[in-house]
This record gives sequence, C-alpha cells and structure tokens, in this order.
Amino acid sequence: MVQFSGLLAFYASLCIANADILQENSKDCDCYVTNGSSSAYFLYRRFFDFRNIPNSNGVYNLEPPNVTSSQDAGGELGQKGYLNSTVFADDWELQTWGRTPRPTTLLRMQNSKQSIYIQDNSKEDNSNATTFLTLRTYRNQQFSSTAEMLGLQRNVFHASIRIYARVHGVPGAVIGMFTYLNDSTESDIEILTRDQINHVRCSNQATIGPDGYTIPGASSDVTLPSPVVWTNWNIYCLDWLPGLSSWYVNESLVLNKTYGVPKLPSCLDINVWSDGSDWSGNMSVGSAAYLDIQWIEMVFNTSGPRHGYPTENNEKRNLERRSGPCKRVCSVDDVERIGIPVRSEAPTTVVVWSFSCCIWLLAAAIIWA
Ligand SMILES: *[C@@H]1O[C@H](CO)[C@@H](O)[C@H](O)[C@H]1NC(C)=O
Ligand SMILES: *[C@@H]1O[C@H](CO)[C@@H](O)[C@H](O)[C@H]1NC(C)=O
Ligand SMILES: *[C@@H]1O[C@H](CO)[C@@H](O)[C@H](O)[C@H]1NC(C)=O
Ligand SMILES: *[C@@H]1O[C@H](CO)[C@@H](O)[C@H](O)[C@H]1NC(C)=O
Ligand SMILES: *[C@@H]1O[C@H](CO)[C@@H](O)[C@H](O)[C@H]1NC(C)=O
Ligand SMILES: *[C@@H]1O[C@H](CO)[C@@H](O)[C@H](O)[C@H]1NC(C)=O
Ligand SMILES: *[C@@H]1O[C@H](CO)[C@@H](O)[C@H](O)[C@H]1NC(C)=O
Ligand SMILES: *[C@@H]1O[C@H](CO)[C@@H](O)[C@H](O)[C@H]1NC(C)=O
Ligand SMILES: *[C@@H]1O[C@H](CO)[C@@H](O)[C@H](O)[C@H]1NC(C)=O
Repeated sequence: MVQFSGLLAFYASLCIANADILQENSKDCDCYVTNGSSSAYFLYRRFFDFRNIPNSNGVYNLEPPNVTSSQDAGGELGQKGYLNSTVFADDWELQTWGRTPRPTTLLRMQNSKQSIYIQDNSKEDNSNATTFLTLRTYRNQQFSSTAEMLGLQRNVFHASIRIYARVHGVPGAVIGMFTYLNDSTESDIEILTRDQINHVRCSNQATIGPDGYTIPGASSDVTLPSPVVWTNWNIYCLDWLPGLSSWYVNESLVLNKTYGVPKLPSCLDINVWSDGSDWSGNMSVGSAAYLDIQWIEMVFNTSGPRHGYPTENNEKRNLERRSGPCKRVCSVDDVERIGIPVRSEAPTTVVVWSFSCCIWLLAAAIIWA
C-alpha cells in the first residue's frame, strides 16, 4: 500500500508537471531558445501578462483623469488594483520625476503615476484580452504629462524582448520601449506619432555626439513590412546579443545594427513622452497619445546583482540562480499559446512519455482501488 501510494504520488506529480503551464521561469525549462537570424540561448525568462486581470469592483472601468495644469508635480496617486500590488511593484517602478526644458526642448515634462493604468477591454469582441495596460502622455499648456515604467531587473545582459502593443493618438509624442543603463548604453524601439503609421525608429544610443551632431548609423528609420502599422496590435521584438542588435516586428526581421550595441547590464524601460524637441515634435494643447500593451515576454541572461550597475539598493525578487548544463531547452517562438514556452527538443518523446505516464497513473489507480 505504501509503495502503491508512493508510486501514485510520483506518477501524479509527473503528470501535473507535464500539464502545468510553463509560465514561470525555472520550473520546467533550464534555458530558452529564440528563433530568427539572431537565434540565441538564454537562461532566464519573465512574462508580464496584462491581458486578463480580474476587474474587481470595476476599478478598471474608467480611464483615470488626464493630469491637468494644477497637477504639475507628479504627486498623483496611481491606480488601485494590480498596479498598486506588490506583484507589480516587485518588478516595475512607476516614475514621478520631471524635467525642466533644455535648450533643445520647449516644454517641461512631468511623469505621473496617474498616466499608467489598466483598462477594461471586455466590451471589445474578438480579443482574448479583457484588460490591457496603457501609458499616456497628455499635453497641458505649460507642460507635458508623461508616463514611464522602469524595470527593476537591472542586471539584464543580452536578451530577447517581445512586447505586444499598439499606439494611437496625436502627432508629437515619443513611445519608447528600450533597454537602459544610461545615455550611452541604451537600445531603443521608438514610435514617433508624427511619423507615418508604418515607420518605427530603432536606435542604439548615443545617437547625438558631443559636438551636437547626429551620429551616422546610430538611429534608423525603419519601414514596417506591409500591411503592418503601429496603430494595430503588433509584436515588437529586440534581440540584444553580443555585438548585434536585431529588431523584429511580427516576427519579420526589420533591422540589424552593429553600431553602439550596449556592453553593460541594463533594465527594460517603457515610456511615453513629448517635450517639443525636434525629435518628439509638439502635441497640441489638450491632446493625448497612448501606448497599449497586452504582454511583455523577455528571455535574458544576467550579469551582476539584480539591482544592477551602478549599484542601487533595490534588491527584491531574485531569480533562482542557474548553473549546470541546459538539459531542457524551451522555445518561446511559434508557441501554441502566447507566454507558454514549449520544449524545443524531441516533442514526440515528451508527448508519448506524458501519455504513458497517465496510463500508468490510471493503472495504479485501478490496482489500488
Ligand atoms: C542579420 O544578422 C544575422 C546574424 O548575424 C544574419 O544571419 C542575417 O543575415 C542579418 N540579416 C540582414 C538582413 O542583414
Ligand atoms: C546566455 O548564457 C548561456 C550560459 O552561459 C550561454 O550559453 C548563452 O550563449 C548566453 N546567451 C547569449 C546571447 O550570450
Ligand atoms: C484625456 O484627453 C484626451 C484628449 O483630449 C481625451 O480624448 C480623453 O478622453 C481624456 N481622458 C479623460 C479620462 O478625460
Ligand atoms: C498603493 O498605494 C498607496 C497609496 O494609495 C501607497 O501608499 C502604496 O505604497 C502602494 N503600494 C504599492 C505596492 O504600490
Ligand atoms: C484567442 O485565443 C485563441 C485560442 O488560444 C486563438 O486561437 C485566437 O487566435 C485568439 N484570438 C486573438 C484575437 O488573439
Ligand atoms: C554609462 O555608464 C558607464 C559605466 O559606468 C560609463 O562608462 C559611461 O561613461 C556612462 N555613460 C554616460 C553617458 O553616462
Ligand atoms: C501582427 O501580429 C499580431 C500578433 O500575432 C497579429 O494579431 C496581427 O494581425 C499581425 N499584423 C499583421 C499586419 O499581420
Ligand atoms: C513647438 O512649438 C513651439 C511653439 O509654437 C515652436 O517654437 C517649436 O519650434 C515647435 N517645435 C517643433 C519641433 O516643431
Ligand atoms: C524557426 O524559423 C525557421 C525559419 O525562419 C522556421 O522554418 C522554423 O519552423 C522555426 N522554428 C521554430 C521552432 O520556431
């Protein structure tokens, strides 16, 4: 009896492990492989899913008010619910800094927590997302209200980052999805809302030299493969490898760049802003632009402590340290369900094995009964 129940528990645990969704880093995958011409292996994975957050008490039904001229210090409270939870706050920090105009800009910028929110999307049909995340920039007469969420995993050192997003709103805003350490260690996907809707900018900083002139090759204006336009939902991907940055949109390679590939650990940063500079352009007073995100998937390697380099005291969720050979490789591309990596080697063996495991469980249960 003891033996049988032990066996039963053992097989049951195997079946559960097989059926378990591979959402979390480190459970059933030792490492991850990406596809495409910049295919690489990575030890860690994070998946941030904003698609189906329970809308308790209808907290996401209304868009938080635009930040107005009387609220110019970034002190507004953030949205209740998910963005106010430790689950979110362990990984992301909503920014509240502001910036006075510089010689090349016209407008002051002020980040506010009130400009980042989860929205209810359940009334929109044919979408599997009942919610998504939005970052907003809104133009006041005297300043731009802007939004930024900074990743707290600051030791990311080479990565494949995928963001499922769309952009809408008036010309004059910059939508940034990028890796960041400082102004010379930064790799960007940027959407300028003054551009045509089939253009994105891909850059490795610095794009401007100390002499104030644009550095050739640092920033590229990329035409998206037809019919992709940034007003629709697309998967934006940045592969950051040693010596190579590759950008993909909806799995099509749009650019390789060897200039300025970051060489130091960084974090993922996402922002939406406008400052009246030549880069952003001007938004008209009282208008807004938005970045909507359903999910972010990132496979990556690390270097140094989670709080990154230079050191900052922000040690929170550490990933389990990886060592030893990668026996179980998982693919994050061409998966049946977004966010669920699949074993990339010998899938038939896995299927047969898990099937036989369930037969054994059934047999054991019958014998026991
Ligand atoms: C981009 O770089 C990869 C890796 O070096 C290479 O295989 C691929 O051919 C390059 N693609 C283009 C369009 O340059
Ligand atoms: C990530 O780290 C693993 C283990 O050290 C290594 O095999 C892999 O090549 C690294 N990936 C990149 C892109 O450097
Ligand atoms: C914020 O401003 C934009 C642009 O004027 C407007 O469309 C939107 O409805 C405003 N949001 C709220 C919550 O009032
Ligand atoms: C939640 O919001 C309150 C203010 O309303 C704030 O004091 C608290 O730090 C927030 N918690 C998290 C985890 O963001
Ligand atoms: C919704 O999910 C189903 C099942 O995973 C998938 O077949 C379908 O394409 C998804 N629809 C959208 C709009 O993403
Ligand atoms: C970025 O950080 C690195 C490492 O500290 C440093 O060498 C570099 O000068 C910094 N660049 C800027 C623009 O601050
Ligand atoms: C881009 O990819 C997304 C997600 O797979 C898909 O919903 C969308 O239709 C694609 N866009 C185009 C123009 O193919
Ligand atoms: C933004 O508007 C101001 C005032 O109208 C103007 O001085 C500035 O040149 C504009 N900036 C751009 C990039 O058009
Ligand atoms: C990887 O990409 C190649 C060519 O782009 C494709 O033939 C192959 O099916 C892809 N494999 C996976 C696992 O995504």
